[in-house]
Amino acid sequence: MDKTFNVAIVGATGAVGQELIRLLESRNFPVSTLTLLASPRSAGETIPFRGQPVPVRCTEVSAFSGQNIVFFSAGAPRSKEFIPVALQENAVVIDNSSAFRMQSDVPLVVPEVNGHLVTTSSHLIANPNCTAALLLMTLAPLRNLGQVSRVIVSTYQSASGAGAQAMAELREQTQLFLDDQPIVPRIMPHPYAFNLFSHNTAIDDSGANEEELKVIEETRKILDDPNLPMNVTCVRVPVLRAHSESVTVEFADARPDLDAILGAWDKMPGVRVVDDRSNNHFPMPLEASGGDDVLVGRLRNDPSHPKAISYFLAGDQLLKGAALNAVQIAETVAKL
Ligand code: A2P
Repeated sequence: MDKTFNVAIVGATGAVGQELIRLLESRNFPVSTLTLLASPRSAGETIPFRGQPVPVRCTEVSAFSGQNIVFFSAGAPRSKEFIPVALQENAVVIDNSSAFRMQSDVPLVVPEVNGHLVTTSSHLIANPNCTAALLLMTLAPLRNLGQVSRVIVSTYQSASGAGAQAMAELREQTQLFLDDQPIVPRIMPHPYAFNLFSHNTAIDDSGANEEELKVIEETRKILDDPNLPMNVTCVRVPVLRAHSESVTVEFADARPDLDAILGAWDKMPGVRVVDDRSNNHFPMPLEASGGDDVLVGRLRNDPSHPKAISYFLAGDQLLKGAALNAVQIAETVAKL
């Protein structure tokens, strides 16, 4: 690649922001200048990039001047406020928030699944919800084996999805619990260590929470299957940084052979089969943490339905579920 890019990260001090910085360096993204932006609380801190300390600046309008690629990972309100500014400056924006994901003119992209939507006319590209991205990596390849007619998912979501402060809270609460000290939740709504609870987003009139609705809507959008029947239950578990999901997929016609499914996953870049029945070794968040691949396995026929199969996955929420997917989108942009 000959081109180099002025890159900015909004939310550089956050859990995803830190991974973005690390990945830009480790994947040798052609960065010309790197601008790190966060809240006024972090202004003045420095974060190393390619061996040099880079100062963190306050997110303000002037910071976007001259930027070519801007990553947003500081929540939907900051995206809504500053993405128009970055676009005005002709930057390509990759937004990790939910602010624009369902807007019809904004591509919502998992590069291995629908990377063709990133073109020279893409200005704003949305990075999907982490749970949806991990699911899609394993679901999309199954569509070559038969028409998927229904998907049922239960999630086991880690603290990292709620940000760096939630991860810190889980660590602190674990220590307090072990020391027999009282636990007073600050970031999460309930005691988190040695507990689990329904995902900490608002419930609508139908009884679904916002996370579940995001997974359903975004999966349908990325698969370009707007009416795909889905039922999703999202739960927080006291795991630091990788999400897991139990998935049942129903097919319209015959269910495919399990070997054909394993073969389809084997061929999918970014997916690794972990399906060792004899050792009872299947995807685990601890083994997915820090890795690029989505781990998938525990594959079996659904004994309750003749056309359905079930499986389990685990993937690093901060990587393929967020920062890695965003950097892959940037790499696609850089190659255009
Ligand atoms: P800061 O660290 O200065 O608060 P996480 O998802 O891990 O909680 O990270 C959230 C990111 O969003 C952090 O980098 C955080 O910066 C940033 N952020 C939070 N509030 C603002 C704000 N008002 N303006 C800019 N960045 C913000």
